[in-house]
Amino acid sequence: VAGLSPMPVPSHKGMMAPGELAAAIRKKNLHCPVPRLLCLENTHNRSGGRVVPLALHRELCAVARDHGLRIHLDGARILNASVASGVPAAAYAEDVDTLMFCLSKGLCCPLGSVLVGSREFIAGANFARRRIGGGMRQAGIIAAAGIVALETMVDRLADDHANARYLAKHLCRIDGLDVDLETVETNMVNVDLVGPGLDTARIISLWQEYGVEVSGRPPSQVRLVPTHDHGRTVIDEALDRIRTAMDSLVG
Ligand SMILES: Cc1ncc(COP(=O)(O)O)c(C=O)c1O
Repeated sequence: VAGLSPMPVPSHKGMMAPGELAAAIRKKNLHCPVPRLLCLENTHNRSGGRVVPLALHRELCAVARDHGLRIHLDGARILNASVASGVPAAAYAEDVDTLMFCLSKGLCCPLGSVLVGSREFIAGANFARRRIGGGMRQAGIIAAAGIVALETMVDRLADDHANARYLAKHLCRIDGLDVDLETVETNMVNVDLVGPGLDTARIISLWQEYGVEVSGRPPSQVRLVPTHDHGRTVIDEALDRIRTAMDSLVG
């Protein structure tokens, strides 16, 4: 749709290394697409919702600028990054051309994301959206929920982060499960399945039998993400059920 050819740069627990980024930006070559755009993500989902620090973000943006690239920040969870680090989202926005963030997820809207950029860019994006069938006349209903989200849901993301740390700490105490606690900076908990014969598919279906639904990070991780609906009572209940499920494997 965008006419882009993606070229992933490795991440080290969610962090791109500026030197590796510079090395990955190809010189002009008749046989290859011309590098034009750096896409960053913050927080970084696959690494467990880690926050890319502002200093590293700026270094990466500087590398991109030196090579004439434009920069898009996939900030689906930029407000989680902001609440966890105390850095205003606007500071992350300063060095990029375009940014998106989600009103759903931790901010609790049933749907909706916001795209931020120059007037000219947004006019182009509206056109592109219409062209692929994404036009919507009733967007005001979603926007109303979005306003509630922005006015009342941002500060409480800190509760989700504290709940995730609590959940992670207690999951580590269950035989067969482990969490790299260093990675739990926001509201995601990637659980390593370290017991013999434990894999993602097995754990998803086992925990389902005990009423706990989680998403998979195959081959040997599952992911839990506490949000507004998962306060301490719900988390304690989930932990009890997970403990019982894991006990059933040895019993
Ligand atoms: C990192 C990231 N980027 C982008 C998106 C897309 O969000 P939306 O479907 O609201 O545009 C998601 C949604 O899950 C996401 O997790």
